[in-house]
Formats: sequence, structure tokens, C-alpha cells
Amino acid sequence: MRLIYFYCLIILLVSNTAYTQVININIDKPTAPKEVQSTMWGVFFEDINFAADGGLYAELIKNRSFEFDTNLLGWTPFGNVKILSEDPAFSNNPNFVRLNYSTELTGTGVENEGFDGIGLKKNEEYTCSYYVRLASAESTELVFELLSENKSILFRDTQLISNRNWKKVEFTFKSPIQENSGSIRLVLNKKGIVDIDHVSLFPVKTFKNRKNGLREDIAASISDLDVGLFRFPGGCIVEGTTLETRYQWKNTIGPVENRPTIINRWNYIFPHRRFVDYYQSNGLGFYEYFLFSEDIGAEPLPVINCGLICQFVSKSDSDHCSIDDLSVFIQDALDLIEFANGEPDSKWGSVRVSMGHPEPFNLKFIGIGNEQWGEEYSKRLALISEAIRKVYPAVKIVGSSGPYPDGKDFNYGWKALTKLKIDLIDEHYYRDPEWFLGNAKRYDSYNRRGPKVFAGEYACHTGERNNFYSALCEAAFMTGLERNADVVHMTAYAPLLAHKNNWQWRPDLIWFDNLSTLKTPNYFVQQLFSKHKGDFLLETKYNGEPLIGADSLYASAVLDTAANQVYVKLINTSTKDIKIKYNFKKVSINQGIVKHISIIAEHPRVENTFENPDRIKPKIDSLNFRTNTSLAVKPQSINLYVFDFIDWQ
Ligand code: AHR
Repeated sequence: MRLIYFYCLIILLVSNTAYTQVININIDKPTAPKEVQSTMWGVFFEDINFAADGGLYAELIKNRSFEFDTNLLGWTPFGNVKILSEDPAFSNNPNFVRLNYSTELTGTGVENEGFDGIGLKKNEEYTCSYYVRLASAESTELVFELLSENKSILFRDTQLISNRNWKKVEFTFKSPIQENSGSIRLVLNKKGIVDIDHVSLFPVKTFKNRKNGLREDIAASISDLDVGLFRFPGGCIVEGTTLETRYQWKNTIGPVENRPTIINRWNYIFPHRRFVDYYQSNGLGFYEYFLFSEDIGAEPLPVINCGLICQFVSKSDSDHCSIDDLSVFIQDALDLIEFANGEPDSKWGSVRVSMGHPEPFNLKFIGIGNEQWGEEYSKRLALISEAIRKVYPAVKIVGSSGPYPDGKDFNYGWKALTKLKIDLIDEHYYRDPEWFLGNAKRYDSYNRRGPKVFAGEYACHTGERNNFYSALCEAAFMTGLERNADVVHMTAYAPLLAHKNNWQWRPDLIWFDNLSTLKTPNYFVQQLFSKHKGDFLLETKYNGEPLIGADSLYASAVLDTAANQVYVKLINTSTKDIKIKYNFKKVSINQGIVKHISIIAEHPRVENTFENPDRIKPKIDSLNFRTNTSLAVKPQSINLYVFDFIDWQ
């Protein structure tokens, strides 16, 4: 028996280390220069999985304006509490809460549970604010309490309330402890009646210290991807279930208190993952999206509704805006460009200035419609893009090819949008590993003279969560995106963010709970490509052909002219050790030490988890490279080699 084990072990060792042959990969200068766009690697932000409220947007109070359909959702009232809307503080969010002290024993008040609890960091500062007015003859006192999970009072503030008109109260305090699931309470312990609205709690420290800003750790994780494109605000939420619930960017700018709250589609769209408390406060709105794009050095790509609601849910054409009434949508698009780029004295440019950004945002792209298809779409797209081009000929238009990467509607879309000379066509694919490996050659045959491609939403779905294998297949596919950077001008993994418990869709690139973020293997793949995007394509060939799956290897290479470096990406999807040799043709590189970054896992199904977040992450080592050196490539590995470029030969 022992002998059998011994032989098995030997066979295993031999099969794991036996190199079949050395694969010679030629890296060459293309005959015609091909640029890599700065927008090549991007992110797609959608308010799905509590990505905005309860996620990237740093506000800690859920239903801060009492505007959810169930007005006190997220709040626990006690004593004599009413919701009123007469003579409100904010006309677009008219509901407010009235506390009427009635019972000595309990007092009267409301407690807020935050988003799955309120996350607090020890010794971090928080600013609480609310609007209040006295509604009784005698003045009274309103108490704010910060509570731990076990309801201990961590901080208390008492305000004398004597003002009969709405007034903002604001104070800052430090949290004495780290708490994942705190809450707050507003309480009247003395006789009196007060009205309260827009109760807010923000960490003082936000990303780039912006007011009404973003959660620092989540924003930093996005920023660390070093992307060149930021697409927002969705996704399906752009479309809406009805025209009324579509995303309307004008409702998301100006003072946050008066941005109307609306229900989020992801509240009810999946019956098996319903979240009745999922709404959009719009506190994270178009101004904040533009600002964030600027802060992370990415081109903004706003997407607007084209007069169609979600075509999946719509039962008849009359659900959509008729062609004759499209002027509202056309105007929305024109006004948006003016908001982003207009002179300070223009109607919408002046709104941007009033919000604190005198300089234009330099918007270059606009998306018209999310996943739309068919004649209804192209008719609307034709009218909207014609109007945009008349006023803003330099702004590039991104159109949709529908929800699927092939089929009748996809083909119709490409044909129709090519005819309309749409600049970029957005393709979406949530597909299995075979599809990703098989489609690494997808763009090799695309017409170079037609619209450019925006691979706007993609992710490899293995039926599990973000495991290593999905990242490996995406990496293999991404060499195909890169190899075709002359036609693929933009890309984005999707979705970007997901709350640990409150998700509707997975896999997702970055997960978070109330205090931390979790980077998936897919995140590190995106980062690897994005941080090494270069600006000129090089050719990678094996036996005279691009390396797309031969010996289960996939490769692409670029030159970074600013850094004088050549980045070669090599993905081994096989379970075998492989030996390769790089032969540089017409490209001179330094012999010697080469940086090598690899992403590997002990098993393809391994994931990063909140308990073990660093299981899969990039490893950096250096290799001694000479022209004839053969390099060992690990089984199922994602590899990047950084060579110092000298010159063309
Ligand atoms: O990314 C999740 C959803 O997938 C998007 O909202 C939609 O565009 C696509 O169907």
C-alpha cells in the first residue's frame, strides 16, 4: 500500500513539474502604430447592492428625510411621534417628523438604525446635523444620543429649541469606540413639541475631505484601480421601471436636502433578494460623480435615459416616451453637457459654479440609454444624438447594443448604430468561463472603420462568488481586449460595489461592510491591467499567430512611452507548469532584472473573504532576464512582466 502511495506521489510530482516544451513568444513592433486609449480600463458605478446610500456615499443615516414610502422605515419611534408635511423645510422632501413630549416615563423620540447598523471608528470625528423648529408655546430641549450596539450611550448632545422657523443644528464629536452596528436617538425628555427633518451623520474624514463626500476606504479602493473612465449612474436604474422612476440627473444636484428621494429599482426587481428599505436619497448625485471622476483622474461617462424605460419590464410601447415628446430628454442631454462644460454664466454652468466648481468638468463622452434595443431605441438615439452633435460636435456618443453580446437584437443594434455613426457601442456580457476563454479573439475580426467598442459591463460568472477562476478567465479575455485596443476604446467590469449582506447581484468587484472593504481577485486583475495600460500596442505572437489559447496561454503587450517600459501580460489557464521564452523583435529592451507581478491561488475556487481578505493578492518578484533565458510560468497564473524599453531597432 505504502508503495502505491509512493508511486502516486512520484507521478504527481513529475506531472506537476514536467515541462512539455519551451514556448517561444515573439514581441514585436506593429507595422502601423496602434494607440491604447487613456479610457481603456474603467469602472462602472451603479447604485445596486447598496453601492450609493449605505456604501460609497458616506451618509450614515437611512431615510434621513422621512421620504421612504413607509415614512418611518429605518426609524423606531417611541412616545408621541407623527409624520407631517405642512409648511415643510424642503419642498421636494416635504415629510418631517413631529415629536410631542407626552409620557414622562419614556419621553418621545426616534431611533435610527443606519444601514445595517452605523459603523463608527474609534477616535474618528463625526458631524451630526438636523433641521428643527419649535411647535409648542414653550421652548424645550432636544437630545441627540449616539448608541453602541448594546445601547450604551457613547455621546450625548442637548440643544435648547426655541426657534419657530426651521434652523440647522450641527455639532461634531469623536466616537470613543470602534462599533460596527451603532445607532442614534433623538429624544425629547421635557415637555414641548418639535419638528425635525433631514437628520444626517457624516464622518468628518471623507475621500479628499469633500463635504457631502464619499466613504474614504471605498473611494480609495476605486481610486487605487487607477482607471481612466468612470461610467455612472447605472445600469438599469437609468431606465427606471416607469418613466417616473427613471434616473433624472437634475433631481440629483443642488442642496442635498432638497434632492427628491425615490425608490431604487433594486429594492424589488429580484423577488428572491428584496430590500424594502432600498431608496435613493440622491445625496450622491451628478455633481459628486463628476467630482469623483476628477478626483481619481478618470474621464466621466454619464449615461442618460433616452425616453425608454427598461425594455425587459415594459409591456407596451406606450410605457415609453413617445417620439413626439422626446424634447424633454433631448433638453436633459444638452443641459447636462452645459452643466459639465458650460460657461459660468450659462444657465446650467452657473449651477455647477454655485455648487463649488467654477472650472468645467471637461466632459468628452455621453451615454444615451443603458441596455436598449430595437427600432424604438435607434429612432430615439438618432434624434438625441443629432441634437447633441449640432451643439456639441466634439462630445462622443456612446450607444447601446442591448443586454446580450450576440443575437438578433445585438446585430440589429450594431447595424443601426453604425449607420447613425455613433462613436462607441456599449456591449454587455455576464457569461461563463468557457465564453470568456472562447471570446478572447472576439474583437480580432471587428471592423476597424466602424464605431469603437465600449465593453461596458462584463464579469465571468462561475455560478459561485468572486473566485480565482473567474478572475483567471477574465484576465485571459482581457488580453483580447488589450490586443484590440485600436477598436476597443473603453472597458468596465460590472458591478463595481456590493454590501456584504445587502447585495442583489453578484459577483462584484469590491465588497464592503460598515467598516471595511474586501478586494476580490477580479479587482486585482483589473488593477494589474489598468496600472499597466501603456499607450502603444505591441504584437505578441506564437508560431506567427496572436497567443489566444494555444497551450492554454493568452498574452498581450504594450509600451508605456512615459515610463519607457514594456508590459507583457501572460495568462496560463492550464493546470501545467510551462516554460516560455520572450524574443523581442524590433524592440530593444534592457537585459537584467525584470519585475514580475503574479496572481495565483492554491485552488481555482478560492475566494478572498472578510475573514481572510489577503488570500489572493498580487505578488511581486524579480527575474533575471537574458534573451535566451526561459522563464517558468506557474499553472493557472496571471503574470505581468515589466521590461525596461531602450528603443526601436
Ligand atoms: O450590472 C448589473 C445590471 O446588469 C445593470 O444594471 C444592467 O445594465 C445589466 O443588466
